[in-house]
Amino acid sequence: MTEKVKSKRNKTIDFSLDDAPAGVLEGIKNGHSDLSQLNNIINQTINGDTFEIMKRLPDNFVDLALIDPPYNINKKYDGMDFKKMSDDDYQTYTQKWIDLIKPKLKPNASLYVFSDWTTSVAIAPILENNFVIKNRITWQREKGRGSLTNWKNGMEDVWFLVNDKNDYTFNVDDVKLRRRVLAPYKENGKAKDWQETENGKFRDTMPSNFWDDISIPYWSMPENTGHPTQKPEKLLAKIILASSNKGDIVFDPFAGAGSSLVTAKKLNRKYVGIEQSSLYTAWGAYRLLRAEEDKHIQGYTDGVFWERNTIAAQGSVINNE
Ligand SMILES: C[S@@+](CC[C@H](N)C(=O)[O-])C[C@H]1O[C@@H](n2cnc3c(N)ncnc32)[C@H](O)[C@@H]1O
Repeated sequence: MTEKVKSKRNKTIDFSLDDAPAGVLEGIKNGHSDLSQLNNIINQTINGDTFEIMKRLPDNFVDLALIDPPYNINKKYDGMDFKKMSDDDYQTYTQKWIDLIKPKLKPNASLYVFSDWTTSVAIAPILENNFVIKNRITWQREKGRGSLTNWKNGMEDVWFLVNDKNDYTFNVDDVKLRRRVLAPYKENGKAKDWQETENGKFRDTMPSNFWDDISIPYWSMPENTGHPTQKPEKLLAKIILASSNKGDIVFDPFAGAGSSLVTAKKLNRKYVGIEQSSLYTAWGAYRLLRAEEDKHIQGYTDGVFWERNTIAAQGSVINNE
C-alpha cells in the first residue's frame, strides 16, 4: 500500500496521540482532576464526558458559552458514533445539557448555539423555553453535498441567546465588516463613508445576522485540523468580540479541536473547554500552544472583519502595521 504524502502547502493538524509534539499532552485535565475550583479549570480543556464533567464545575463562572453539539445527523467523531434521533429525543438531549449549563452561567451571560436547519426546527422551542432568543444568524458556508432532489444545504444557524434581555454584553463597534464599495458616492468631491486604498475602495459596515464572509477551514489554513466539523476561528472571533470583554470567561462544553478556546485566547479572553476525544483535545492543546506566539485570525485584520477574497488588501494593512 502506498503511504499518502501530504502536499507541502497542506497545514492540517492531524498527528496521532503517539506523535503528539512535546508539551501538548502534559497538563490536559481529565475526570481524575479536581474540577471544583475555578483556578484549577481556567484556561484548560478537560478531556471527558461533558454530561459528567459539567456537574463537577463551579457555578456562576461563564460570561459567554459557545455550544456546538453534535447536530441531529449521523456523524462519527473519534471515539463516538452519534446517531440521528427522533426530534423528541434530540429535544430531551438538548434539555439535558441546558439543565447542566444553566447554573454555570453568570446572570448577564450570553450563549451561541450552532445547528443546521433541520436540527433548528427541533431545538428552537427548547431554546425559547430556557433563554431569551436575541437573534438567529445565518452563516452562509461554502461547502455541502449537492442533491439531485433537493436544494444543496449551504448554510448553518447560529442562535444568539441571553439570560437577561436587559443585561448582556454587545460590542457592536468591534465586529464591523469591511466591504468593497460597489458604487462609491462622493459629496462635494469627497468620499462619503468610504476609504480609498491601493487595493480598492472599502467601507466599514454594521454587522448583520447574515454572515457571508466566512469559509470553513480548509487544508492550506494553519487552523485546519482533522476534526470532521471544525468551526472557523473567524466565525468564533465575531461572536467572542461582540459578546464578551477582555478577561471574560468563554466556556465550550463540546470543544472539538479547540477552535473557540484558541480564538478566545488570541482575543485575550479566558476559556474552559470539555471534549470527549483525547485526540481532538490534543489537537486543540497544540493550537493553544501555538497561539502563545501567533495571535493572527484569518480574515480579521486592522480591528475589522474582511470580505472573502481580500487577502491582498488585508496584506497591505498587515504590512503597513
Ligand atoms: C460539532 S463538534 C464541535 C467542533 C468544535 N466546535 C470545533 O471547532 O472543533 C462536537 C464535538 O462534541 C464532542 N462530543 C460529543 N458528545 C460529547 C460528550 N458527551 N462529551 C464531550 N464531548 C462530546 C465530539 O467529540 C465533537 O468533537
